[in-house]
Amino acid sequence: MKKGISRRNFLKATGIIGAAAASPLSLVEFSWGKGSEENFTVAHISDSHLTHIKGNEFVRNFDKGLKRAVTEVNFMRPKPDFVIFGGDLAQLGKREEIDHGLEIMSKLRYPVRWVIGEHDYYLDLGKYWEEKVSKLHYSFDHKGVHFIVLNSILTYDDWMFNKWKSPEVRMSQMARLDNPQGSPFMVKDKQIAWMKEDLSTVSRDTPVVVLSHSPLYKIFKPWNFWTEDAEKVQAVLKPFKKVTVLHGHVHQILYNQIGNITFQAMMSTAWPWPYPVSYAQAKNAVPKLTVFMNRADPHSERDATGWSMININNGRVINDFRLWENTNRTLKYDEKLGYPVDEKYQNPENRIPPQEHY
Ligand SMILES: [Fe+2]
Ligand SMILES: [Fe+2]
Repeated sequence: MKKGISRRNFLKATGIIGAAAASPLSLVEFSWGKGSEENFTVAHISDSHLTHIKGNEFVRNFDKGLKRAVTEVNFMRPKPDFVIFGGDLAQLGKREEIDHGLEIMSKLRYPVRWVIGEHDYYLDLGKYWEEKVSKLHYSFDHKGVHFIVLNSILTYDDWMFNKWKSPEVRMSQMARLDNPQGSPFMVKDKQIAWMKEDLSTVSRDTPVVVLSHSPLYKIFKPWNFWTEDAEKVQAVLKPFKKVTVLHGHVHQILYNQIGNITFQAMMSTAWPWPYPVSYAQAKNAVPKLTVFMNRADPHSERDATGWSMININNGRVINDFRLWENTNRTLKYDEKLGYPVDEKYQNPENRIPPQEHY
């Protein structure tokens, strides 16, 4: 179709204006393609934590987790348009680990969009990742959806640059879950300004999907289930009607709704974390909305690990968790309620009680 011709004139010219009334108009609209939001799927793999031992030896169990996700994604139907990797490919940011991860991920039949995690970053502050894997923050458009990839695992300058006697010590400090010497994750003002600028040309009706490693809200600071400047990031996203944040890092099913923004955590292929609420004495903000992952066997480290198939349905995410030794779960945004709902387990009567802390 020639540029500049109006839709009405086009219909007239092709002689289908009479037929248009009888045929479903949405089909005609769809054939235009321009600006229309399309249904498509992507796969999300996260937190593989490949761990180097020595030479070409790696912890086999974590290798197996990532390899299995890659194989399953290759057999996925419908075929994903691309795959998102949600960060923590490596355990201690070593070149051996990143190279090993790239080797395993190279077996995927689909392009990969990469997000960096703290385990990939804190040895050399993202240098090797940028060289070999991907930029640390960027944006792209796909079938009417605007994607923003953030490096959300930065922290205070002093902690990053001055506090530790070597990069290895810094890395091992950041790698600990419950570290009193740790420091909270941040997106930082420079990147937030970039994000604001990037979104300035995006229409407010455009669905926005933000890919980050840490949750872009605050759950539990002692474990760094936390982004210190989350409110600033949320403020930039506030004007948009459909916003979804997909993040890794927490290794558990976790979802939340804050204003217009839906947050969904992705599973790890390495191990599941317990919920911070299991530390009953500590103040935490695990979302009330979240139906906890059901860990039938808390001693099995494969129980509650897996990956996700994500259907981006007109800008709203339908998230199918593929859990390897447990019941698959589906989270779908409910337009009437205005937040994501677990198709089967949201109703308290249907829930399987979560694990207690053992
Ligand atoms: Fe992780
Ligand atoms: Fe992480």
